[in-house]
Amino acid sequence: MRDPNNIVLVGGGGHCKSVIDVAESAGYTILGILDMPEYVGSSVLGYPVVGTDEDLVKYVDKALFIVTVGHIKDAYLRIRLHEHIQSVGGRLATIVASTAHVSRYASIGEGSVVLHNAMVNANAHIGKGCIINTFANIEHDAVIGDFCHISTGAMVNGNCTVGQGVFLGSQSVMVNGIGIMDSCVIAAGSVVRKNIVKKGIYSGNPALLKIKL
Ligand SMILES: CC(C)(COP(=O)(O)OP(=O)(O)OC[C@H]1O[C@@H](n2cnc3c(N)ncnc32)[C@H](O)[C@@H]1OP(=O)(O)O)[C@@H](O)C(=O)NCCC(=O)NCCS
Repeated sequence: MRDPNNIVLVGGGGHCKSVIDVAESAGYTILGILDMPEYVGSSVLGYPVVGTDEDLVKYVDKALFIVTVGHIKDAYLRIRLHEHIQSVGGRLATIVASTAHVSRYASIGEGSVVLHNAMVNANAHIGKGCIINTFANIEHDAVIGDFCHISTGAMVNGNCTVGQGVFLGSQSVMVNGIGIMDSCVIAAGSVVRKNIVKKGIYSGNPALLKIKL
């Protein structure tokens, strides 16, 4: 029978290490990691790489899954892995670090992880498959679309709207009440002061379009 305390991590890189620490803090039992064939038999922070994506199906009845590959410029791989998990009947965990604060008036979609010391304030809504990274702050009434990565120390102020698959770099800031369209990339340390309505990579203060996507 599937035990909702058991999880299997999909992806064994750097982000996986951060999620291991968070999952331990939240009381999960990690059964193992699925990764590329060349890593099967190795371990990450003491947890074994037990198989590849092909082995997902073996764990469907035993555990929940969490996608632990990172996302900088493109959410494609994370989206594909979520689809694969669901196509074999797998269920996703939603993990909140013991040190994070999620308001009881906020919501978090399945497959999302809120890492250490992050804050999700009242009436904020986080979509599915998101990474709300260490020390990120999602303020009141903000809406984060599916498969976004809000990086370490990023600040999404009140009433902001972030489209699907957006990457918000470390310590970037969205001033209150603005929106960013789907699939944009905001460089570390940028300040987004106006609505972003063209898909691209933006950087600086104010954040300006550097590369069209
Ligand atoms: C946005 C980013 C992905 C772009 O990477 P890239 O495609 O390799 O692009 P480049 O480094 O060649 O930079 C492209 C342009 O954007 C500018 N730029 C990139 N990052 C910038 C930043 N943080 N602040 C200001 N300008 C920046 C570069 O100066 C360059 O402009 P130019 O062509 O006028 O010289 C990368 O710079 C970045 O910010 N990564 C995020 C790191 C991070 O937050 N990690 C968190 C993990 S939790």
